[in-house]
Amino acid sequence: MEEKFTGEGSGHDWAHIRRVWLMARHLAQESPAADAEVTELAALLHDIADWKFHGGDYEAGPRAAREWLQTQGAAEALIARVETIIREVSFKGLGVATPVSSVEAALVQDADRLDAIGAVGIARAFAYGGHKGRALHDPAVAPVAHDSFASYQQNTAPTLNHFYEKLLHLKDRMHTAAGKAVAEQRHAYMEGFVAQFLAEWDGQA
Ligand code: ADP
Ligand code: NI
Repeated sequence: MEEKFTGEGSGHDWAHIRRVWLMARHLAQESPAADAEVTELAALLHDIADWKFHGGDYEAGPRAAREWLQTQGAAEALIARVETIIREVSFKGLGVATPVSSVEAALVQDADRLDAIGAVGIARAFAYGGHKGRALHDPAVAPVAHDSFASYQQNTAPTLNHFYEKLLHLKDRMHTAAGKAVAEQRHAYMEGFVAQFLAEWDGQA
């Protein structure tokens, strides 16, 4: 994954994958029932083929992970568990439930979402928006609570809307207590950022 993703400019670079892997391991310390091999493999492979860069194909990631694990001679039971986690990890719009079916999926989903909030999360959002040619902010464009994955995928709103459409809600969607604790602190930082951003936007000294 390091070889494949080093230098990827879209926010799904190796640095993101590495942080999710390290955070999943950190969160796992408080979930002794979690299988470390499954958790770490899913964290490392969760962005192997993102739908956003594969024509909206949501099965591209799970399929690519399965195919790579097969080349490594992994057992079918392990492959199936990792594939399911990758299918469950992604955010699909504010109005779309994203339940997890295992403790390992909870850890990886929390770790991935923690990397979308806080200082790094703010940087990633604007990097993604820049990559897509989006405005930083436009007060005339109201945030939308996307209630289908299709409408979330087709969204082209200014980047500040993404805070209201996703980032400021992630704290309340943590599955693990350890994830929630990290999220609280990052959320507070992000709220301060948005307040300062809006004040500066209107030319406040
Ligand atoms: P997830 O990690 O839940 O699968 P994504 O793959 O959708 O989330 O997002 C990857 C990164 O890109 C995150 O940091 C996310 O906040 C950011 N991102 C996704 N969509 C947008 C958007 N419309 N505007 C700004 N940032 C975005
Ligand atoms: Ni990710």
